[in-house]
Amino acid sequence: METHVVTGAFSYTGRYLTRRLLAQGIKVKTLTNHPHRPNPFGDQVSVAPFHFGKPEELAESLRGATVLYNTYWVRFAHGTTTYDEAVENTKTLIRAADAAGVSRLVHVSIANADAHSRLPYYRGKGQLEQFIRESKLSYAIVGPTVIYSTEDILINNIAWFVRRFPVFGVPGKGEYGIQPIFVEDMAEIMADAGSRADNMSIDAVGPEVFTFDELVRLIARKINRRTAIWHMPPGLALLASQLIGLMVGDVVLTREEVDGLMAGLLVSKKPPTGKTRLTEWLSENADKVGSQYHSELGRHFGR
Ligand SMILES: NC(=O)c1ccc[n+]([C@@H]2O[C@H](COP(=O)([O-])OP(=O)(O)OC[C@H]3O[C@@H](n4cnc5c(N)ncnc54)[C@H](OP(=O)(O)O)[C@@H]3O)[C@@H](O)[C@H]2O)c1
Repeated sequence: METHVVTGAFSYTGRYLTRRLLAQGIKVKTLTNHPHRPNPFGDQVSVAPFHFGKPEELAESLRGATVLYNTYWVRFAHGTTTYDEAVENTKTLIRAADAAGVSRLVHVSIANADAHSRLPYYRGKGQLEQFIRESKLSYAIVGPTVIYSTEDILINNIAWFVRRFPVFGVPGKGEYGIQPIFVEDMAEIMADAGSRADNMSIDAVGPEVFTFDELVRLIARKINRRTAIWHMPPGLALLASQLIGLMVGDVVLTREEVDGLMAGLLVSKKPPTGKTRLTEWLSENADKVGSQYHSELGRHFGR
């Protein structure tokens, strides 16, 4: 039985991927910052901490694995966590995989990653893509835009706001695009990439592209709510999101996310790879989507 390592199997994307790999009869091990969290997979998934500060131990925890699926990244700098640290940690992980004899790396990046971007998230991801292309590992780089489900922090949380508030603040004119991918499609693309041997870079994006305004209206319509969209200067929208963040104990939106969104970076330039249509998925999940707020700080910092 092959062993595959999935980072973050107890978190978001890694959990869906792990379920899929286990169903294929693959043995899964996870690396995480939270090795003592309840393990939803029981004995089926073994656990090791990330050990970024101890590369030999990190390599040891990867030994015997054929594929490493890397989801590790930080959405925003918080406390002592920075993007530069996330870049260095990821390089340490990739070197450890090489040292441990892992034969395939499936790395989750982001669509439109760019080593020269002025946005540190996109820049860090772009630098890592370069690092991977120059490594000796057989690799697949998978670039999603926004990965949706009933527990994601964008589509689900937009629905959460729309359920509770009569108005929804949109930065700028709301004409910029967004091309979300369903989390199960993302997991399928990753598992498929893990089973191949050729070096590849693909975007993980769904078949539908919406303007941001269309997306908010679609969500409101599907969950049967009337919402007035208020277009506001990006700085004001960010301020409003910070006030709501105080209420829900989370970072709802960052300046960088607003900039990336408004620059059209949440739309791929490549053909769609996901098959699930958000329009249909919303109809099927209208009762569930947005019924619960999902917090990034809760997920990673225990708030
Ligand atoms: N979610 C999206 O819509 C989206 C969109 C575009 C790209 N992506 C990319 O897809 C990948 C997976 O995203 P995801 O949302 O599914 O991530 P996630 O499951 O929440 O986290 C993935 C991994 O990163 C670790 N991690 C996350 N935030 C961290 C922090 N602040 N400090 C230290 N470790 C942290 C997690 O640690 P634990 O194991 O301890 O939880 C987990 O191992 C990421 O590389 C992300 O950049 C996601």
